[in-house]
Amino acid sequence: MGVPLLVRLQSYLGPLLLLSISIIYLPITLLFHPFLFLFSPSSFRSKWFENFWRIVGPQMAASELQAEHIEELLSRAHGQVLELGPGGGDQIYHYKAGQVETLYGAEPNAFLHSRLAEMAAKHGLGDKFVAIDAAAQPGSLLPALKEARLVSSKTASLPEEGVFDSVVAIKSLCSAPQGQLASTVAVVQALLKPGGEFLFFEHVENSTDAVTMYYAWLLDWIWPLFMGGCRLNGKIDRVVLGMGGWDERRVTTVGDFQGHEVFRYVKGICRKA
Ligand SMILES: C[S@@+](CC[C@H](N)C(=O)[O-])C[C@H]1O[C@@H](n2cnc3c(N)ncnc32)[C@H](O)[C@@H]1O
Ligand SMILES: *[C@@H]1O[C@H](CO)[C@@H](O)[C@H](O)[C@H]1NC(C)=O
Repeated sequence: MGVPLLVRLQSYLGPLLLLSISIIYLPITLLFHPFLFLFSPSSFRSKWFENFWRIVGPQMAASELQAEHIEELLSRAHGQVLELGPGGGDQIYHYKAGQVETLYGAEPNAFLHSRLAEMAAKHGLGDKFVAIDAAAQPGSLLPALKEARLVSSKTASLPEEGVFDSVVAIKSLCSAPQGQLASTVAVVQALLKPGGEFLFFEHVENSTDAVTMYYAWLLDWIWPLFMGGCRLNGKIDRVVLGMGGWDERRVTTVGDFQGHEVFRYVKGICRKA
C-alpha cells in the first residue's frame, strides 16, 4: 500500500472531525430540549441532527469539489421532481427553477422543513415547492405520496405511466435503511415516467484498501448514532448497476479517489427505459 501514512491519517481525520462537531451539539440540544429527550427520543435525535446540520450542511454544500457534480445533476431535473432527503435545502440553488414545475421534497426530519421552504423560496421555487414528511424507503414514501394524491390510494400498483420526470438524492440514501435499498430504488424506478431520470450523488463503500475498509467498519459502529442514521457502507452504485429497467446508467466516481479515503463519492444518472 503506497499511501504515505500522513495522507492516510489526514483522510481518517475527516470523519472524526464531523463526529466531534456532532458530539458538541448533543449537550446543547439536551439543554434546550430536555423534554424531547425524555418523552420522544426519535424527535430528539432529529432535533439534534437539525442543530448539527444547520452548521455543517451549508459548509458541505459549499465544497467546490462536490458542487460542480451536484450542479450537473440538479440542472438536469425538470418537470415533476421528487427529491429524497433534501435536508435544509442547501443544494436547492442548483436547480434550474424555470424548468421545474413542482419540487416535492421528501424530508423525514420535520425540524428541517422550515429552512427547506425558505431556501426554496430564496431560489425561485417558492410556489413550486411542496414538503413531504416522509423517508425514502417504500413503507414511508408510498403512504405519503398517496396522502399527497400523487399516487392513487385506490389501487395497489403504481401507475404505469409514472409520476415524476426526475428523482433526486444527494447524500441522503446513506441514511435510509440499507437492507431496503434495493426495494427503495425499485420504487424510485417505478415512480419515474419512461425516460425520466434518477439522479444521485452518494458516498459508497469501497474495498480497494483493507485498512480503510477496517477503519470504516469500526467507525460505522457509532457513526449512525451521531450522523442521523448515515452508514459508511453504502451500496447504491451496486444496486443500480445490478438491476434492469434502465435505458442508460452512468455511475462514476467523482474526484481523484485513490482507495484510502473513507468516502468514495459516486454520481449517477440513470434513465428509465
Ligand atoms: C447528510 S444530510 C444531506 C441533506 C441534503 N441532501 C444536502 O445535501 O444538503 C442527509 C439527509 O437525509 C435525510 N434522511 C435521513 N433518513 C432518511 C431516509 N430514510 N430517507 C430519506 N432521507 C433521509 C436526513 O434527514 C438529512 O436531511
Ligand atoms: C473501488 O474504487 C475503485 C476506484 O474508483 C473502483 O474501480 C472499484 O470498482 C471500487 N470497488 C468497489 C468494490 O466498490
